[in-house]
Amino acid sequence: MIMDEIKTLKKELGNKVVIPVHHYQAKEIVDVADFVGDSYMLAVDCSKTNAQFIVFCGVLFMAQCADILGSSEQKVVIPVPTADCPMANMANLATVEKVFSSLPNNENIAPIVYMNSYADLKSFCGKHGGSVCTSSNAEKIMKYYLDQGKQVLFFPDRNLGINTAMKLGLSEKDTINSKNIAAYNNERVILWDGFCPIHLNFTVSDVTEMRKKYPEAKVIVHPESTKEVVDNADDSGSTEYILKKIEASPDGSSWIVGTESTFVKRLAVQFPAKNIYMLKDSVCANMAKTTPELLHKTLLNVKQHIENGTPLENIVTVENEYKEFAAQSLKKMIEIVSK
Ligand code: 13P
Ligand code: SF4
Repeated sequence: MIMDEIKTLKKELGNKVVIPVHHYQAKEIVDVADFVGDSYMLAVDCSKTNAQFIVFCGVLFMAQCADILGSSEQKVVIPVPTADCPMANMANLATVEKVFSSLPNNENIAPIVYMNSYADLKSFCGKHGGSVCTSSNAEKIMKYYLDQGKQVLFFPDRNLGINTAMKLGLSEKDTINSKNIAAYNNERVILWDGFCPIHLNFTVSDVTEMRKKYPEAKVIVHPESTKEVVDNADDSGSTEYILKKIEASPDGSSWIVGTESTFVKRLAVQFPAKNIYMLKDSVCANMAKTTPELLHKTLLNVKQHIENGTPLENIVTVENEYKEFAAQSLKKMIEIVSK
């Protein structure tokens, strides 16, 4: 019923509205999406749309990126403004500035900020010649700077940072935690101490137990999981990478998937000819805040705003002081990925 109403509203709003949806959203929300993807794809797709209203179904930092990359005529709204990402709150501008300025020769240090961060930190990276990265391109972005002989300050996700450094052939000795910065000795990668609580739930013993239960299955995890979990898995990558890997595997293949459960359950529905198991049940409560009822309310508000000037609710706007350089660091990522 509510789904029919959403579809009717969508039809009425036509190309004035687009609904980008992250992979971790509930199936009902995915079913009415204009595009579904990982955080990189959503940023790129949002930068290309001409729709006047972007109704973003995901979490706040993702909606901010749509605003940063959109035109001044476009408006981004989010059905639930409290849909936050705890990891994004694990680094703030004042602390990052303090660490960065305490580093010797910091003109040779490139700051790389994970997409899961707020606009002020993206702006910081833009100002200091760094880049944003996502889990789909962290390797490319880190390599780009290391190849120039630069060191990297990577924040906020220590797990994505270390897993990426390992993929590039560095060792743990090449990294240092920003909390030990007093002991800094020109390590190539300085890692922040943030993490995703949802991916931190996965342990090596979960991998061992699930492998015992399903010995024929391959283990694929998101790189926000710990290094130990990634080391014990067969493969790791972004949500879109996981989807594409499973999609391309032959019917009858078995997969143990270590990422957010709503997504893993949807993969099982989407690919009934494959055997898909959760590494462990671990739900992102912030992603789950977007319900069909709230999406419906948002679309109705957009319609009433267009038709009779009702004030638009839950607008996501990035402060002007951050917009220019935040856009620069997002565009830098897109440029490096497209090389
Ligand atoms: P992806 O970019 O892989 O979609 O990841 C976003 C995220 O928040 C994972 O927890
Ligand atoms: Fe943030 Fe983790 Fe949720 Fe992704 S799964 S949005 S990193 S809390």
